[in-house]
Amino acid sequence: MTESALISADTRLDADWWRQAVVYQVYPRSFADSNADGIGDIAGLTTRIPYLAALGVDAVWLSPFYPSALADGGYDVADYRNVAPELGTLDDFDAMVAAAHAVGIKVVVDIVPNHTSDLHPWFAEALASEPGSAARNRYIFRDGLGADGSEPPSDWISHFGGPAWTRLPDGQWYCHLFAPEQPDLNWDNPEVRDDFKTTLRFWADRGVDGYRVDVAHALAKDLSWPLRSKPTLEDEGVPLDGTDPLYDRNEVHEIYAEWREVFNSYDPPRTAVAEAYAPSERRALYATPTGLGQAFNFDLLKADYRARDFHDVITFCLNEATKTGSSSTWVLSNHDVVRHATRYGLPAGIDYDDWLMTDGTLPVLDEVRGLRRARAATLLMFALPGSSYLYQGEELGLHEVADIPREALQDPIWLRTENTKKGRDGCRVPLPWENDGRSYGFGAGNAHLPQPAGFSRTAVAAQQGHADSTLELYRSALQLRRQLQTTEVLEWVETGHDDVLHFVRPGGWHCVSNFGVDPVALPEGLVRVASGPVADGLLPGETTVWLTEWPV
Ligand code: BGC
Repeated sequence: MTESALISADTRLDADWWRQAVVYQVYPRSFADSNADGIGDIAGLTTRIPYLAALGVDAVWLSPFYPSALADGGYDVADYRNVAPELGTLDDFDAMVAAAHAVGIKVVVDIVPNHTSDLHPWFAEALASEPGSAARNRYIFRDGLGADGSEPPSDWISHFGGPAWTRLPDGQWYCHLFAPEQPDLNWDNPEVRDDFKTTLRFWADRGVDGYRVDVAHALAKDLSWPLRSKPTLEDEGVPLDGTDPLYDRNEVHEIYAEWREVFNSYDPPRTAVAEAYAPSERRALYATPTGLGQAFNFDLLKADYRARDFHDVITFCLNEATKTGSSSTWVLSNHDVVRHATRYGLPAGIDYDDWLMTDGTLPVLDEVRGLRRARAATLLMFALPGSSYLYQGEELGLHEVADIPREALQDPIWLRTENTKKGRDGCRVPLPWENDGRSYGFGAGNAHLPQPAGFSRTAVAAQQGHADSTLELYRSALQLRRQLQTTEVLEWVETGHDDVLHFVRPGGWHCVSNFGVDPVALPEGLVRVASGPVADGLLPGETTVWLTEWPV
């Protein structure tokens, strides 16, 4: 092979890093606090890059770290090209990227294009400007309905409860699909489009490798007057032809085609993953090589812990990914949902919002079982072709903190639903690094959300070096995955048991997962890693193993 062929092969390899990457999501305010103010920060993350390297992840995705009034945990961005002062500076960010890159970890940032914060200078300008002005046209301002305009311009509702419209003293209304502090942008406006391309370049120029695109399915809206009715949230009845007034419209892909040109102007091209709550049949449209390239699917996250459900989700998602030449994504936990160790320890089908309102007392959580199943499900996920997205703390087997005192809750869902739903704070509690101390090593001060006493048992320090700990399971599985992973192919193997899934990847990498409670015979092979104790040729219930056909 000539030298130039070698170089291009390397570049290609690097350009494809995302296809089967393990991406670790950091919720910056709750990861590591370097300056004792109770809030995680960028410098704190930098000190923990060696931890992430030892864990064996390929990339770190940062939830928003931009200046924000925190009306929605940072998903209300006041300045897209800066770091929140309480989280650090752009210099801190550059140092973090350098530290990550030095150990081969890519950096992905969250881009929030559907809405800004109400503290964004554009919104301040819009408020100070006349109805019909150019400043208001960056957002979605409309007159109200009814004789005196006192009715909202449409029946659109907010994801956090209540109408998606707020009225101003001058009588006009503005649209917000989330909190009132998150006014929606008008993506028909070329100025908005150009500004986001500038933001994408800003971070790419600082060395960022990719983007996670928030609410990617909602940017394009049918704003023709009168506004069309949409009294339900997105996953309820979005038509499959891309003509819903708010969600998953065909036009949204024109925006991402423009973004792709920006991504491809870098070497290697920047990557992106869409958070798109589109009908699953239309998800592939976000994952085209001329669009964002990859899309989250939350099908596994939503599935019950049942062999058939996992089998069907995996088969469907792998098939969808091949439609566009993308790779599938897999997610079991993130900053928006009840942690999977907890979900799997509760009866299937319960309403988690209701459960949280009982402070996690009813129904009773089976913590041990939940964790056993979570470890088994995660080990299965790591063996799948495609990218696994992890959420901070799941490698410690953390449970949802269901009993945060009500006065400490921060999620806008809590306020906007008039305290009838607690929201997502229970999965956003700052991480425990040490067995004791003011905030279990999160920082020298008190954590911004209260941590439970059980954190002394689940802290990094309590698990490190203990072979049967969840942390060591993640570490050994991720290390082995790097060795075993080859092409994105999976073949199902018939097991003769409804509760047992078995698949094999090229090179003889087998994954066998027993979702039932009774032990089953282990197939031939060398056990390389197991989510629970395996002995006497039997695979216990709620346990996954990886086997290879050749010796170590
Ligand atoms: C993010 C949420 C956020 C919402 C509004 C979501 O999809 O993951 O955390 O509240 O977008 O930005």
